[in-house]
Amino acid sequence: MRSVSACCFSAALLLAETLHAAPTPQDVAPKASPPGSSQVLANPDFGPIPGESSYYSSNNSTLPPFPGNYTQPVMPTAKGPPGPDDLLFQNLLQAEWAIYAFYQYGVETFNQSVFEDAGYPSTTYQRIVEIRDNEAGHGRIFEEAISNTSVKPALCKYQFGIASPVAYLAAHTVIEISSMAFLTGLILQATLDSSKAALVAIAEVESRHEAWGLIDVWNESPFGGPADTVFPYANEILDTTKVFIVPGSCPKGNPDYPIPSQNLPALTYVDNTTTLLPGSPITLAFSNPANQPKFDASKTYYAVFFHGLLNITEPFDTKTNTTIIPPEFEAKGLFLGVISDTPGAPTIDTVVAGPIFIIEQPVEINSGVS
Ligand SMILES: *[C@@H]1O[C@H](CO)[C@@H](O)[C@H](O)[C@H]1NC(C)=O
Ligand SMILES: *[C@@H]1O[C@H](CO)[C@@H](O)[C@H](O)[C@H]1NC(C)=O
Ligand SMILES: *[C@@H]1O[C@H](CO)[C@@H](O)[C@H](O)[C@H]1NC(C)=O
Ligand SMILES: *[C@@H]1O[C@H](CO)[C@@H](O)[C@H](O)[C@H]1NC(C)=O
Ligand SMILES: *[C@@H]1O[C@H](CO)[C@@H](O)[C@H](O)[C@H]1NC(C)=O
Ligand SMILES: *[C@@H]1O[C@H](CO)[C@@H](O)[C@H](O)[C@H]1NC(C)=O
Ligand SMILES: *[C@@H]1O[C@H](CO)[C@@H](O)[C@H](O)[C@H]1NC(C)=O
Ligand SMILES: *[C@@H]1O[C@H](CO)[C@@H](O)[C@H](O)[C@H]1NC(C)=O
Repeated sequence: MRSVSACCFSAALLLAETLHAAPTPQDVAPKASPPGSSQVLANPDFGPIPGESSYYSSNNSTLPPFPGNYTQPVMPTAKGPPGPDDLLFQNLLQAEWAIYAFYQYGVETFNQSVFEDAGYPSTTYQRIVEIRDNEAGHGRIFEEAISNTSVKPALCKYQFGIASPVAYLAAHTVIEISSMAFLTGLILQATLDSSKAALVAIAEVESRHEAWGLIDVWNESPFGGPADTVFPYANEILDTTKVFIVPGSCPKGNPDYPIPSQNLPALTYVDNTTTLLPGSPITLAFSNPANQPKFDASKTYYAVFFHGLLNITEPFDTKTNTTIIPPEFEAKGLFLGVISDTPGAPTIDTVVAGPIFIIEQPVEINSGVS
């Protein structure tokens, strides 16, 4: 990837440019569609239509709802260059499949009495079902946003390693607020105004899901300060969702995910070294043994934290892996942290590890629900 001199805006343009320069689905020849295969999904009138059908609000079934009941990618039905935002929506659809699968897993694994017995409101299971149905609708919306000259990716197999209802609901809160952040970041990659508006509309729905959890599940104020977190390097968040994909389980024909990917070392923190609140020291850790950072002893590194529309840079000590959570931040919503070789991480290529997600609401998550 080429480097640019300064500013998030340039980085976003660079990213958009790189996306369009990446291997494109236009090389994939249209294929004849066997009847009953996923190719029926190419027809936008097939199946329930988002915004017209109540299916995506209240399908209610424990079975995988449409279009999650199709397991193969939809091959291009027309030849020609990809649509300007096809790659963005291919990345987003694959992120969406992981999120949809998380809720489908919840619908299949839990039931109303499990949540009630754990002390949650009697509507909790029904809300998880409704969120699952909304996420299926997002899948259909993103399929339709990908033009006929590009592949529409299908689901892989996913692993969540969550057994208890409280851990599941904590993960729901993290997933929703993280998707709010990557959706705002993806707006910086979008070319068409209509794509940008669609991304805002979807982010708003994720924010409703988040607000439901904060009110009903966690018994907290639903508000998260005057602005939610903008993180400009959305693909770095998408990359972290790959831990949910069972290796090798994606159908042949799916494009790589995400494109482009920096494959950065994953960032987490060492238990008991931090309160996770603003001003607290924190010892970071690189959680994937197969992907460890290589720090150049002659360089200085920084921990750059994003919250709301701000970012604040703190020193990062590569000998101890310690830094501090910016004391200036309001303890609301989401903090995203990365390790960078430049204060402010002004371009994507200055990020060398991360991101780490620090959720300030509910505080239960910080005190380690399990
Ligand atoms: C895409 O292809 C499908 C199936 O051939 C067709 O129904 C649909 O109208 C096409 N969409 C566009 C925008 O051409
Ligand atoms: C889904 O369940 C909700 C809550 O029980 C109910 O109000 C709604 O009518 C159901 N929808 C369908 C299509 O059965
Ligand atoms: C919900 O989706 C399932 C699985 O695709 C389907 O069998 C069922 O008929 C759908 N329910 C409604 C109310 O559309
Ligand atoms: C998927 O669900 C839709 C809507 O319920 C239905 O029309 C379609 O036949 C189903 N397809 C498969 C392969 O199950
Ligand atoms: C709910 O799930 C629990 C745990 O799997 C099970 O013991 C219980 O029978 C289920 N209840 C209903 C009403 O299905
Ligand atoms: C963190 O502290 C808790 C409570 O004091 C303790 O049970 C746990 O073992 C500690 N974890 C580590 C990794 O030291
Ligand atoms: C800091 O992280 C590096 C990379 O994972 C690791 O090798 C090193 O042991 C860590 N240092 C401390 C003091 O935890
Ligand atoms: C972080 O903030 C600084 C100062 O406002 C700005 O120059 C820099 O571009 C910001 N970084 C990103 C990634 O937006």
